[in-house]
Amino acid sequence: MTPSPSPPGPVLRLGDVAALRAQVRAWRAAGEGVALVPTMGALHEGHLSLVRRAQARCRRVVVSIFVNPTQFGPNEDFSRYPRVLEADLALLAEVGADAAFLPEVATMYPPGFATTVTVAGLTEVLCGPLRPGHFAGVATVVTKLLLQGLPDRALFGEKDFQQLQVIRRAARDLDIPVAIEGAPTFREADGLAMSSRNRYLSAEERRVAPVMHAVLQQVAEAVRGGGETAPALAQGRAALEAAGFSPVQYLSVNDAESLAPLDRVEGPARVLAAAYLGRTRLIDNVAV
Ligand code: PAJ
Repeated sequence: MTPSPSPPGPVLRLGDVAALRAQVRAWRAAGEGVALVPTMGALHEGHLSLVRRAQARCRRVVVSIFVNPTQFGPNEDFSRYPRVLEADLALLAEVGADAAFLPEVATMYPPGFATTVTVAGLTEVLCGPLRPGHFAGVATVVTKLLLQGLPDRALFGEKDFQQLQVIRRAARDLDIPVAIEGAPTFREADGLAMSSRNRYLSAEERRVAPVMHAVLQQVAEAVRGGGETAPALAQGRAALEAAGFSPVQYLSVNDAESLAPLDRVEGPARVLAAAYLGRTRLIDNVAV
C-alpha cells in the first residue's frame, strides 16, 4: 500500500542528532515508515523527485541539507556552493516533506573528528582519481547521516551513479540497517540533467549543455548490441569537444555494478561522462 504523504505545510526543523533520532524513533514507534533524502540544498526538481518517490514509499520523509566540506577538493566550489536555506524550506513545505535535518559543520565534524569511511575498487575509476578524497567524504557523511537518523530507507539519484554505487557498497559492508534506493535522473525538457551547478552556466553554455545527454544516448545506442565500445566512445568524445566541452575528463562505458570499464557490453552497463563547460563541471550517465 502506498502511504499518503503529509499535506503541504511547515517543515519541522531539526538541528541536532538527538532531535533527529528522537523524531525518527517516535514515527517508527507509531508504525510510520521513515525515508531520508540526503542533499546539499539548493534544491531543484531533481531533489524534489526524490522526495516524492520517498513519500510513495514511506509515510514520513526527512530531507537533510548539509554542504559537506569533506567531499570538496581544495580547488572546488565549497565556499561558493549555493546556500539558499529559506527557499529550500519553502520548496520542502510545498511538497509536504515532514522534516529537514540541518546540522552545522561542528555537529557533523566535532573537534577531534578522525574517522573516515573509504570504499575501495568502486572509487578507483571515473570521478575517483579526478577528485581525490571526494568519495571518502561522501561515504563518511552519508554513513553518519544513516546512523544518526536510522530511517527505514534512504534515496539517492542515479544522476550521481558512482556515488550511488559507493553508498550501496558502504551500507552493505558496514551492515547499516537502511534500505538504499536509487532513483532515475530528472531532466530538463532538452535532456540536461538537473543539477545545483547548472545555475553557474552562461546562456551560451546552457544552450550547449544538453549535448552531453544526447552523446550519452548515442553511445548507449551504439554499444547496445555488444560491439566494441572504443569507436562509439571516440566518436562521442569528438562530438562533446566539437560542442565546446573542454576538457572532457571521461566518456566511458562501465559495468553497472562493479563500474569496471568495458570493451564490449555483455550485462547491465552504464555510459558515463564528466566534462567542463567553461568553469562548470558537468556529469551525467545513462543506462545501456
Ligand atoms: P546533492 O548534489 O545535493 O544531491 C542530493 C541527491 O539528489 C543525490 O542523491 C543526487 O544524486 C540527487 N540528484 C541530484 N540531481 C538529480 C537529478 N537531476 N535527478 C535525480 N536525482 C538527482 O549528492 C549530494 O548532494 C551529496 O553528495 C550527498 C549525497 C548529499 C552527500 O553529501
